[in-house]
Amino acid sequence: MRWIWLFALLASFQLSAQEWQLRDTCPPSFLLTEDNRCELKTLYQFYTSTQGKGLGGTQTELPPHRDGFTPQQIDLGRHLFFDPLLSGDQQLSCASCHLPEKGFSDGKALSDGANNLQTTRSSPTLWNSAFVTRFFWDARAQSLEEQAVGPLFAENEMDNTPERLLASLNQNSVYKQWFAQAFGESNGITLDQIASALTAFQTSLISLNSRYDQYVHGNHNALNENEIAGMNVYRSFVARCSECHMPPLFTNNQIAVIGTPEPEGMPLDVGAETTFNAPKLKGGFKVPTLRNIAKTAPYMHSGRFATLREAVEFYTLGRGHAVPEGVEMQIHWHIWEPNLTDEEIDRIVDFLHALTDETFTPAVPAVLPSGLTPINNQQTAAIKGENQ
Ligand code: HEC
Ligand code: HEC
Repeated sequence: MRWIWLFALLASFQLSAQEWQLRDTCPPSFLLTEDNRCELKTLYQFYTSTQGKGLGGTQTELPPHRDGFTPQQIDLGRHLFFDPLLSGDQQLSCASCHLPEKGFSDGKALSDGANNLQTTRSSPTLWNSAFVTRFFWDARAQSLEEQAVGPLFAENEMDNTPERLLASLNQNSVYKQWFAQAFGESNGITLDQIASALTAFQTSLISLNSRYDQYVHGNHNALNENEIAGMNVYRSFVARCSECHMPPLFTNNQIAVIGTPEPEGMPLDVGAETTFNAPKLKGGFKVPTLRNIAKTAPYMHSGRFATLREAVEFYTLGRGHAVPEGVEMQIHWHIWEPNLTDEEIDRIVDFLHALTDETFTPAVPAVLPSGLTPINNQQTAAIKGENQ
């Protein structure tokens, strides 16, 4: 018994003596500049060609990206991202629905939010958000800052209020000190600073070193025969995948109407039609990146497809085959009837598996300033159970 007390005493000692420091180094794949900013460095920055992009050209340039945050802003964002203190009932963090081990998605068709409510769409990956120009499936947010306030205050997500959120952070001495350190002001934490720190963290999630990338950079043994065969079907004029899911990011950052089905019994999600008030975008969604796609099942805005194979097979079952009767949808002209064979579908799936790269997965903070658990036990148990 006495030993237990001693351990408890030591543990509490350690916690109180812990120095609450933000990191002063950049995450991997960023270099620290003289004025204390993290600049992205990737081999793709050596490629300037734009030719053959839609045809699946390999050594093509990256679109513009966001970087230039300080190490302290990024590390503050990492703590906020995992801290349930940000939610109304202090049960949910951003990571509850964007789990690092699930490609920053959550393995569910629809996510479980506050008040026993579910989200109406599937949780997307956050990898490579530094390159994304429109956020949410229906492209309704123009920046990560604008996006962040969505989940924080949505009743079916984190269900907080701006007043309550600011009060709980301002009452926390560690966060107060950290925000002052990261933003150089000490007049109290603001919503803009919260959004900015979350953005800093999310733009640090870089995944550009999959086996596919190694192949691109010249290691021709990085992909096996099946994966190369798959890549060739993927970028062929028949399958046309790369015209929308364009390398190197495997998205062209556009919106396309492709006519995916809703789950059984669910009403049609008109997607980007609402955002842009444009009937021709009925059923239009953002072209999602396919990087780390093997980790983010189930697939599509509705999570309708449980496996990657089903998602790929969708494209060969006929143009508009899943559009409900009587609904007029202007399906994109690149969605056709490629009549892929079973073998070709399998090869594409093989290729998509070669787009996984989680080398730079950030660490979940061991202790949070709020003292809360980053991702609650139930969620962790569910993940462990599934992985067994
Ligand atoms: C209850 C689950 C849940 C929580 C909690 C949650 N999200 Fe999400 N997130 C989603 C869902 C679902 C979507 C897609 C919604 C849509 O498109 O309409 C989404 C979309 C996003 C997107 C858009 C990605 C893209 O490429 O379009 C970002 C970025 C994001 N979330 C970041 C966050 C951050 C930061 C937090 C914490 C402040 C957070 N999320 C909390 C479920 C959640
Ligand atoms: C006209 C543009 C376009 C073409 C061509 C296209 N896609 Fe897509 N893809 C999309 C859009 C838009 C979505 C999201 C649709 C939705 O959620 O309803 C999507 C979703 C996906 C998803 C699910 C992603 C996720 O995160 O859930 C996979 C996998 C996929 N596409 C693979 C392919 C493959 C393989 C091909 C070639 C056979 C292909 N796509 C061709 C536009 C396209």
